[in-house]
Amino acid sequence: MQVIAIANQKGGVGKTTTAVNLAACLARAGQNTLLVDLDAQGNASAHVGVDLTEDKRSSYTLLVDKTADPATCIFPVFPNLSIIPAPASRALAEVDLALVSAIERERRLERALKRLPTQPDFVVLDTPPHLGMATLNAFLAADLVIIVCQTNFFGAEALGRLLLVLVDVADIRATRQRIRVLATMHRANVRANRQILQELQERFPDELFKTVIRYTTTLHEAAGAAQPITEYGNGCHGHKDYLAVMEEFLNEQTATTGIRSRA
Ligand SMILES: Nc1ncnc2c1ncn2[C@@H]1O[C@H](COP(=O)(O)OP(=O)(O)OP(=O)(O)O)[C@@H](O)[C@H]1O
Ligand SMILES: [Mg+2]
Repeated sequence: MQVIAIANQKGGVGKTTTAVNLAACLARAGQNTLLVDLDAQGNASAHVGVDLTEDKRSSYTLLVDKTADPATCIFPVFPNLSIIPAPASRALAEVDLALVSAIERERRLERALKRLPTQPDFVVLDTPPHLGMATLNAFLAADLVIIVCQTNFFGAEALGRLLLVLVDVADIRATRQRIRVLATMHRANVRANRQILQELQERFPDELFKTVIRYTTTLHEAAGAAQPITEYGNGCHGHKDYLAVMEEFLNEQTATTGIRSRA
């Protein structure tokens, strides 16, 4: 089981779009994948068609109840893809308060995933645009953190803060996690976008994915249609780009572990 957290405390940069579509590409490539929506906005849940008006067991259940059975919080999406959704209520937004005096509150998710009766090949965590308890739980559970950066706004300061948090997380964890950076919503015909992409390449030569996610309206439409891009826009730029990220990522797994199962 490999756990991947998709993060950036800056809002609207493409975290949810990346979490949902990367998870869907992995699932369609034959990898058993679990998406976890840790954002009170519930955008990842809505993107895969979960009805957010009816309350059900959710990621909040796992964070507040350390004895909760994670298997009861999982809902199927399509073959090989399932989700632990966000709760229908705004409860997840108050998770920091709910956990204020809980012991080892930052490791609830990591432990819940270890209690899964069948471990998926990949767990993809969509995180909210702030560094609260849900995001911290994601960082502690993750083997890999993908920081999503839009190429029309660098946000160097926010990125620097996030990297410092990840250094602290590495101190708490026994093993150091990998960090990758993914450039999104790129418009190659806009000079400012090209400049920021170059800046990311210079600053993160080893971490930056070679694949750049292009600005593609079909990705936006797919979210509105409550379908991952694998189902809504098969073959469009957005689908091809997320497939390419997945390939890059899986090839690296093979290079580091020698294992490439199923895909
Ligand atoms: N590559 C892309 N091309 C076009 N539109 C995109 C692309 N990626 C994301 N979007 C759109 O941009 C908006 C913000 O994306 P998304 O919800 O994935 O960001 P986010 O970082 O998860 O936001 P938040 O911080 O609020 O959770 C959405 O409307 C989404 O459909
Ligand atoms: Mg989001």
